[in-house]
Amino acid sequence: EKVVLAYSGGLDTSVLIGWLQDKGYEVHCLYVDLGQPCEDRKAIMQKAVDIGAASAEIADVREELCSDFAFPVLQWQAKYESIYLLGTSIARPLISKACLQRAREVGAVAFVHGATGKGNDQCRFQLAAEALDPTVKIIAPWRMKEFRDAFPGRTEMLAYCEEKNIPVKATSSKPYSSDENCLHISYEAGKLEDPEVDGVTVIDFGMTVSPQDAPDKEEFVTVGFESGIPVTLNGASKSPLEMVTELNEIAGRNGVGRIDLIENRYVGMKSRGVYEAPGMTALYTAHLAMEQMTLDRDLTHLRDRMSAEVAEMVYYGMWYCAKMDALMAFIKEAQKPVSGEVKLSFYKGNCRVASWKSSNSLYIDEIASMEGGGTYNQDDAEGFLRIMGLPLRVQGSVRPREW
Ligand code: ARG
Ligand code: SIN
Repeated sequence: EKVVLAYSGGLDTSVLIGWLQDKGYEVHCLYVDLGQPCEDRKAIMQKAVDIGAASAEIADVREELCSDFAFPVLQWQAKYESIYLLGTSIARPLISKACLQRAREVGAVAFVHGATGKGNDQCRFQLAAEALDPTVKIIAPWRMKEFRDAFPGRTEMLAYCEEKNIPVKATSSKPYSSDENCLHISYEAGKLEDPEVDGVTVIDFGMTVSPQDAPDKEEFVTVGFESGIPVTLNGASKSPLEMVTELNEIAGRNGVGRIDLIENRYVGMKSRGVYEAPGMTALYTAHLAMEQMTLDRDLTHLRDRMSAEVAEMVYYGMWYCAKMDALMAFIKEAQKPVSGEVKLSFYKGNCRVASWKSSNSLYIDEIASMEGGGTYNQDDAEGFLRIMGLPLRVQGSVRPREW
């Protein structure tokens, strides 16, 4: 039987190639490029073949990750449990899709991933894959007792590599696990499992400096939006990936975009996660500001009420479903007027809005002004409040006085 393995080049998925072969599978490796760091791509692809993979391919989905996954979620202003920008969650359905596309090419019947049975990632990989191809077989070795018994830890994996002549890079094992793509880096497990430990003392951050080490000088950047999509940086057109990458650089060097939270996993337990998402943090700030100027009040409030639901669906892995399609159609329509420019200021871990500009602005100073004159007639407020206050006055006359 042919299988497609979501291959990262690391120890776990390298061992998986060998183990799957021992089980009699023909293994096709797909390295899904999401912008994760990889020292030597050629080397890890060659390694897969050396271990015995029938094929080893790379799928570069970085632009798609930004344009079709991160940006719609940005338009929703979706944050899981109010904080987490979903950088890992968003990437998983795309990995599933890329692997299933590869499976179709080679005629594979199963999709293999290296996520554990205790986390969110397995849910996202599987729910997305099954939604795309209900007949696909999912092999999740970490959920198989047989695999866990064979590889209870890193030591056994290293021994297996030794025996099978699988080259392993002498990576200093970090005191936590991390997941990186062009949107963010997540850190969890290991020493971070103790919430009394300050993450900053443990983590070797990859995208941001600490605010203390950031420059003493404020830095300004103008982000231009078209219908809720960031399209220009300081006036220059950018592709979605360029936008995210360049803002990662700018926000990162100013110490912007770190968060640390205890989150509720889909599988039920609470888990401590530390994240850095400098570029996306800047984009969320700029986008929200653009909406403030251009989006109708009631539409904004409706969006806000549904946003937590979208975040939950993304976090759980409910990406390919009718409800998400409908929500995406909604946000696309809702974002039509969200165009213009927002100037951001970065300074020592802060990202603030410096100024707003839009030809679709609903902010009319003549109406807003507290100065005299204009088109707003204060007499009208008299009747408005008499009517709005009617139920309150009725209740006030009936409810026992408690003050
Ligand atoms: N807790 C985050 C999430 O569920 C990050 C998961 C990190 N995954 C990983 N394989 N290290 O989205
Ligand atoms: C894993 O368990 O594979 C990583 C963590 C997660 O998916 O939440």
